[in-house]
Amino acid sequence: MSRIAYVNGRYVPHGEASVHVEDRGYQFADGVYEVCEVRGGHLVDARRHLDRLERSLSELRIAMPMERRALELVMRETVAQNRVRDGIVYLQITRGVARRDHAFPPAGTQPSIVITARNHDLGKLEQGASDGIAVVSVPENRWARVDIKSVGLLPNVLAKQAAREAGAKEAWFVDANGFVTEGSSTNAWIVTRDGAVVTRPADFGILRGITRTVLLEVLADHGLKLEERPFTMEEAYAAREAFITSATQFVTPVVRVDGKPIGNGAPGLIASALRRDYHDHAEFA
Ligand code: PDD
Repeated sequence: MSRIAYVNGRYVPHGEASVHVEDRGYQFADGVYEVCEVRGGHLVDARRHLDRLERSLSELRIAMPMERRALELVMRETVAQNRVRDGIVYLQITRGVARRDHAFPPAGTQPSIVITARNHDLGKLEQGASDGIAVVSVPENRWARVDIKSVGLLPNVLAKQAAREAGAKEAWFVDANGFVTEGSSTNAWIVTRDGAVVTRPADFGILRGITRTVLLEVLADHGLKLEERPFTMEEAYAAREAFITSATQFVTPVVRVDGKPIGNGAPGLIASALRRDYHDHAEFA
């Protein structure tokens, strides 16, 4: 079956889907994106993803290209046209096409919108969760507004590639004070020796992950102790468990950090239970 992409009002074959060379997303990374999970053909936590999308857009003063309800309909239609059951829908909005000039384009320039959808490689995802993944640390070198889900992801790209070259699946950024901020495309968590679950506060310095937000509810439901505070790499090395969260990875256990085994070097009980129960707390639409 051939893939279909939604580009500025039209559903087109994926191979022919394109944006203009002077799209500001292409020239300046002047745009934002969202990745929303699809499970059993339903959008997962679409309300929260669209809330965050609207926030990212408003922080950058980019207009919503269409009504929110219409946007949700197009997301669903893209999922349906691509016959996605368990996968993701990707949505990107940029400040539009205009003659290259760093300052904002003329008023009335239409934002560009692209939506794609595809199935997960479920076997690979499950394998990652049952084996656990390795993480390496890299220096934090991103701009201060990583709370905005901007398509400007060059430091994240380089960090992920550094992880890959080290035989790991994710890289954790470490700030100038020695604290972990987050992963290149996931939020970072540890479980301490006395069973507290630790993750960095989402006020600034990280993206407020939707999976992270939902997981806070799961933790409360399990009666687990949460410490929302920054943690160091030394704490990570000494942790009983570690894991990452995102719309594409859900909760995935981390078993090695910078080559050192975490806990007994196998996926932890808490991370595994949180992965199992996460979707019970997510919203399906
Ligand atoms: N990444 N931190 C960063 C830097 C991210 O890029 C992401 C998501 C997250 C987790 O957010 P959420 O739980 O809402 O997916 C945290 C997406 C999946 C991506 O870039 O593919």
